[in-house]
Amino acid sequence: MKINNRLSNVNEYHFKKIEDMKNAAILTGKKIIDLSIGDPDLEVNLKITSALIDGLKDYRYNNYPPYDGVMELKKAVIKYYKQVYSVSLNSDEVIILIGSKEGISNIIPAVCDIGDIVIVPEPAYPVYSICSKLWGSIPYTVPLTPKNGYMLDFNAIPEEIIANCKLMFINYPNNPTGAVASCEFYKSIIKFSYDNNIVLCNDSAYNEIIKADKKAISLMQYDIKRQCVEFGTLSKTYNMTGYRIGYAVGNARVINALLKVKSNCDSGQFIPVQKAAIAALNLERDYVYNMRKIYDERREAAKSVLLQKNINFFDAEGTFYLWCKTPDNYTTNKFCEELLINNGIVVTPGNAFGKLGYDYFRIALTKDKVIIEEALKSLNKCGD
Ligand SMILES: Cc1ncc(COP(=O)(O)O)c(C=O)c1O
Repeated sequence: MKINNRLSNVNEYHFKKIEDMKNAAILTGKKIIDLSIGDPDLEVNLKITSALIDGLKDYRYNNYPPYDGVMELKKAVIKYYKQVYSVSLNSDEVIILIGSKEGISNIIPAVCDIGDIVIVPEPAYPVYSICSKLWGSIPYTVPLTPKNGYMLDFNAIPEEIIANCKLMFINYPNNPTGAVASCEFYKSIIKFSYDNNIVLCNDSAYNEIIKADKKAISLMQYDIKRQCVEFGTLSKTYNMTGYRIGYAVGNARVINALLKVKSNCDSGQFIPVQKAAIAALNLERDYVYNMRKIYDERREAAKSVLLQKNINFFDAEGTFYLWCKTPDNYTTNKFCEELLINNGIVVTPGNAFGKLGYDYFRIALTKDKVIIEEALKSLNKCGD
């Protein structure tokens, strides 16, 4: 049997490996606290579940949904952008996705030919570079370093790379570091993308997960020529990872190209799930504020234990992650493995986000504050 050659460049999805290790530990009877995957533990709002249940009862939704999403959900996304960012969007500048991961993958063949370069950050959500390889494009990784607050330094990209690049991903608020971009950063990277005719995509999965007193900003606020794209998801803000619902907004030509790919590969998301997403986007803003306060408390609690334990971390302003330095005399993998075996704590090894993540690990604040504190307080048992 012959298998696609490009798959030899692709490893098993990292969270699958972590899941396997965790399950093996559980089988030995170990109590596990999982702070690895970014899957919120908070409850789904009742208005969201009610909308889903009402949708399930409507026989009209048994049929195929529209490929680009139901108009009512597009309108809810448009209203959301207006309300939160004061950005006006047309309906041909919005597409509904089966989770943003789907769109992040499908935008690659929508924009790039085989052999084109895709600029991706590192460390990063691995999908940008893995799916670039799967689709026959070539990821060019730009290091994100603590020196510049994990902002992507586009000035460091060589001319010949820029000349062969059509697509570029950024991700702010950033997974895994928790860095949040400023409007100055957005303005300057948008100018870089305009000057070089590159489609700039911001993956804004964590757009609302910032400190409670901060204002969320969007790439689209500064994309005056409407040439960029921004991905969004209901997964993180509304605790709906299992629902698989997200969206992309931005340049109508690119959105239409994405629809061309999608409509040939999938048939859209089940309408009751889209109804649930509408209910989520229509929740009062208090919902978002309260969710942020929960993560603020967890973040502060975790930071204070890490400080006591002399574990260095980036002072994150967003996402529900903390990006921590592996203690000296440990490799990343050895540290994470010992943490699991000795302490029953699962964190994500930094190299899951690319080579530049070696010597780091990521903590997801997706458990109750008390559980996070209990887990982190046991850290110095590791390697004793
Ligand atoms: C940076 C980033 N982008 C996108 C996603 C995918 O989100 P979705 O559930 O919408 O596919 C994730 C999920 O962990 C993520 O961390």
